[in-house]
Parts: sequence; structure tokens; C-alpha cells
Amino acid sequence: MLSAKSLFQEILDNDESFRLFCSIAASGESQGGWENARIAALVPESERALAPKITRHGADEDKHGRIFNALLKKRGLEPVDVPADTDYTMLLERHGIGLAHDKLKADRPLTVRDVITYLAHSRVTEQRAAEQMAMLLKYFADDADLGRAVRMISADEDNHLAYSHEELLRYTAAGHGPYIRRTLRECALAEIRVHRDVSLAVMARMGRLLGWSRGRSALLAAGIRATYAYERLAGWRRMVRLRTPERRDALGGPATPAPEPA
Ligand SMILES: [Fe+2]
Ligand SMILES: [Fe+2]
Repeated sequence: MLSAKSLFQEILDNDESFRLFCSIAASGESQGGWENARIAALVPESERALAPKITRHGADEDKHGRIFNALLKKRGLEPVDVPADTDYTMLLERHGIGLAHDKLKADRPLTVRDVITYLAHSRVTEQRAAEQMAMLLKYFADDADLGRAVRMISADEDNHLAYSHEELLRYTAAGHGPYIRRTLRECALAEIRVHRDVSLAVMARMGRLLGWSRGRSALLAAGIRATYAYERLAGWRRMVRLRTPERRDALGGPATPAPEPA
């Protein structure tokens, strides 16, 4: 039976596919960390109060990158270069979603709209991250190393999602509602496409590493396309709704340190 759990189990059990999985995850997390650190440094004077939270957001993502690298190291594996077609963060940036890296590399302060664009990008991508981590946690909570890593990352991603809801609602109340709604919609529709393309690319590579049959690969690809069709039809709306989160000021304190690799 082809369940999501057995599929992930197979990927985790093989060194080469585990290496690719952790390398892709680590690279995406570290890119997120870099982006957020730059945004925090360039926050305009009027939005200065937000800077510590953006810094914390970035520190969390960097920590996630280190956690995935530590998982590799524990198995005696080196990270591999991430193939361009599996680079979710980079592909989103190429599609003009979130803030352009050119803008982040420059030393000019961002505008309020830039900050809102960052928060909308976070609202959408943190939803994806939170859902993926919740799924991994459901399947692998009992796995000694992976379970511990995923539990911590999952709690952080939930915080990031809560924070982006809360801050976007604050900007909505300040009169930015139309821009926020437009940006969220654009971001969600692009994200679901990039997520589909990256999923297809990752699964194609996993299939080659693990010697999957054509039938099995075709079935998985059809599943990914069906998920996209659902997200395009209705599912994307879950990524753009704004709700006051249960947990307020989720990024109010300092980052929780990563557990020492055992
Ligand atoms: Fe993360
Ligand atoms: Fe996150």
C-alpha cells in the first residue's frame, strides 16, 4: 500500500534519499534565515518595533537549517548541492513572490509595503511549513532523532504562522487591507504552483535514487497533480484567511536554542 508514511519511511531509510531530503530542507531553512535577517536589518524606522520579531523569525529558520544538517552529520553524511528545480525558496523568489533578493542585498531601507509583502509571503509559506511539519510529526514522533527535531521545528513553524496572522491583522486594521488581500492571493496562487513543481522534481529524483517502478512514479505524480488541482480550485483559500491566533505575540521572546546533537 502506498501511504505517505511508508513513502517517507522509505526516503528516510536510504542514505542517498535521506541525504537529498535533509539537504533540500536545510538549504530552504537557511535561505529563509538569511532573508529574514536582511529584512530585519532593513526595516524602516516607522516599523522598528517589528524588527526583533523578524530577527527571531530568521534565527529560528537558521536553527532549523542547523537541525537538518545535524541529522545528516549524525548519520555520517555530507549535504549535497540542492538541484535548482527542487529549490522552493529560490523558485518563489524567481516568481516575484516575497521580496526580491536584489532588494535585500541593497542597503536601502524597505517600505511599509515591503514589510507587508514579507508578512504575506510568511503567512502563505509558513502555512505550508506548519502543515508539512505536522504531517512529519504525526508519522515520526516516536523516531528518536527525527521525532525530536520535527517536534521542535513544528512548534516554531506554528509560532511563525501565528505571528504572521497577528501582524497582518494589525496592518489590516491600519488600513492596508486591500493590499494585503491582493498580495496574499497572488502569493498563494504562485506558491501552490511552485509547491507542485518542486514536489514533482523531488519525487522524480527520489524515484531514481530508490529505483521506483514507472507505475509507482506515475501514481505519485498523479497524486501531486491532483493535490494541486484541489488547491487551485479551493485549497488555496486556507492560505489567505486571517484569524486572530490563539497564541499572541508568538515571536515576542528570544529564540529557543536548538537541542545539542546527541
Ligand atoms: Fe523553518
Ligand atoms: Fe518558519
